[in-house]
Amino acid sequence: MATFEDIKGFVFDLDGVITDTAAFHTQAWHQVADKVGVEWDDQLGDALKGISRMDSLNLILERGNKENAFTEDEKVSLATEKNENYLTLVNQMTPANILPGISEFLVALQDQGYQMSLASASKNSPLVLKNLGLSRFFTKAVDPTTLKHGKPDPEIFRRGAELLALDPSQCIGVEDAAAGVAAINAAGETSIGIGNPETLASADINFTKTTLLTLDNIKSAMDR
Ligand code: BG6
Ligand code: MG
Repeated sequence: MATFEDIKGFVFDLDGVITDTAAFHTQAWHQVADKVGVEWDDQLGDALKGISRMDSLNLILERGNKENAFTEDEKVSLATEKNENYLTLVNQMTPANILPGISEFLVALQDQGYQMSLASASKNSPLVLKNLGLSRFFTKAVDPTTLKHGKPDPEIFRRGAELLALDPSQCIGVEDAAAGVAAINAAGETSIGIGNPETLASADINFTKTTLLTLDNIKSAMDR
């Protein structure tokens, strides 16, 4: 693992790290699963985290052995319906939806001269950041529509480092999804997983909640 002194930048996932939109995505997909008659469980919810919109729908249909039950047009309308449900929730968001400790962490990073970029699979991330009042921190964001591969492929985290003109070894990636931690590791960055240590077992560093995400805690974990 890199040492704390090597680190010059942070590449952030959005949903489930900066704000609890992961729960909103889950809620909106659960509605779609019910509609198409696919049984929902927490494991399916976890497997969808970090995955693009169409890949998520395909995974739900596969779980229910329904991958051939819908035409492409029907799939697009299911994904559109999910997004409309999701946007209803996003449109009610305010800065109060920033997860605890995240604003303080972003300010500390800025004050101490770290660079930061966004590596979210979500096409809604500009709107989410605007509603949270955090757009100013993420002037550098990977556009997910330009990616060839989704997480767990490393492409999005490599691009996040490139936007900062840093080598991946100089970056820490922050994620709440197993697919995202795998992407960070494959990109050659140091991975921080936020959430369940079992689900995120491959993270270099694990914090069970966002309030633990501080430069002091990261330094202690890296220098251990
Ligand atoms: C990721 C979420 O950040 O973005 C996934 O973890 C979501 O749950 C993906 O499916 C795509 O988001 P959107 O907003 O473009 O449908
Ligand atoms: Mg996430």
